[in-house]
Amino acid sequence: MKARPSILVVGAGYVGLSTAVFLASKGYTVTVSEKNPSTVDQLSRAKLHFREPELKARLKEVVKSRKLLPVVPVESIYQNADIIFIAIDSADRTTWKMRVNPFEQIAGWIGSIKRRMPPTVVLKSTNVLGFAERFRKQLDLTPYGKAARLVVNPEFLREGMAYEDTAKPWRIVVGSRETRDAARLLMVYRTIYPKSVPIVHTDWKAAELIKLGANVYLAHRLSFIHEIADFARIEGLDIEAIRQGIGLDPRIGLDYFNPGLGFGGSCLPKDCMLVNSDEHARHFAFETALSANAINDRLLEILIGRLKDKIGALKGTKICLLGVAFKPEIDDTRGSRAVELARLLKRSGAEPAVYDPHLKGVDVTTEGGLPLEHDLDTALKGASAIVIGTAHRSFAMLSPSRAAGLVKKRVVVDYFRILNPRGWREAGFEFI
Ligand SMILES: NC(=O)c1ccc[n+]([C@@H]2O[C@H](COP(=O)([O-])OP(=O)(O)OC[C@H]3O[C@@H](n4cnc5c(N)ncnc54)[C@H](O)[C@@H]3O)[C@@H](O)[C@H]2O)c1
Repeated sequence: MKARPSILVVGAGYVGLSTAVFLASKGYTVTVSEKNPSTVDQLSRAKLHFREPELKARLKEVVKSRKLLPVVPVESIYQNADIIFIAIDSADRTTWKMRVNPFEQIAGWIGSIKRRMPPTVVLKSTNVLGFAERFRKQLDLTPYGKAARLVVNPEFLREGMAYEDTAKPWRIVVGSRETRDAARLLMVYRTIYPKSVPIVHTDWKAAELIKLGANVYLAHRLSFIHEIADFARIEGLDIEAIRQGIGLDPRIGLDYFNPGLGFGGSCLPKDCMLVNSDEHARHFAFETALSANAINDRLLEILIGRLKDKIGALKGTKICLLGVAFKPEIDDTRGSRAVELARLLKRSGAEPAVYDPHLKGVDVTTEGGLPLEHDLDTALKGASAIVIGTAHRSFAMLSPSRAAGLVKKRVVVDYFRILNPRGWREAGFEFI
């Protein structure tokens, strides 16, 4: 084998591109295969197709130094790759089943080539439990796939910090059937990560459960604080005091323990479903995952009820929704609770007017085909309530007196607590 393995990353999303750019920045030659030709075109010009400031800067460097080569998927690119990272979006968001077809095609391409040194195939996408076993069988059905080494190596990065988390992971999880299957991947990781990064080496299914389990835990933690916050709102209690009082116990902690509109994104809600996608066959349901999603849904229903109680029937009522990204300072709306809220408002007859500074000027069709206002004042004008949908920093600077001059009713919903309540109350707003 060559001194440095050549690397192929399949899928140029948050996970694939962060992995590819980081490896390229460490001197590896990396090909990134992406099925969307316009993304390939943009990446070839060092342009990033989503908002990740650090990744954007690093992408420029590695495209310039020609360490990173974006291409559309073709069988031939699999020929020279020693390590193949698969980082494609893995689940269908309507059925919550794995998208098996693209994996079958990839297995077919990997196994169609006879090679002296078999490749290491790394499943970075989040899988249902037992998927590696199925993928192994697909590889085994191909002419030369039997020799390929298969490793499950789930990703834990946070959007908004995608590159930073890839470069400095809290831990690395590697699942393999035989220890030696992971040897080449671990060798690469030893060259790019300090020894202080813990590596948990286990089998395929345990690695799959670690990934899903971590997200179920995070989802559950968030639904817990959301449930407490909902109760506190109903009772008129001080949410922040309660959060501090609970979270200052070091066994609980204050990190990732902030109330908001619920948990969203492309991972947490999906993984709570994926972990249970086979529950009937398995005769085992992960109840924490089911209740986390249920509490998430109830939160928005209660919110709609509060709006109705305060401003009356919602039919024909304009509601200004500020922010639709699923978390602050990013532009990803997948699984966003604010998008879901807009959908529920529409269903109640309301007219949500949505503004998001990170999606400004973009003709965004979010999930649910939500039209976006291109300026803040238009979104505020004539609204009967303002709802903070995403805790983008810039909303904290919003002038309450300016908003007061534009809206029809001075009602505000800020579950994130990013607005200064005193200033807003002085301008005549009521928080519900
Ligand atoms: N986004 C996150 O924060 C995050 C974190 C940890 C794990 N994950 C998991 O990692 C996986 C990827 O997530 P993501 O957010 O990077 O997804 P993404 O949707 O941002 O990117 C996936 C990319 O793969 C491309 N693609 C799909 N099929 C392809 C194929 N056959 N060949 C080439 N390209 C193909 C898509 O066009 C897309 O650009 C998912 O399983 C996800 O659950 C995501």
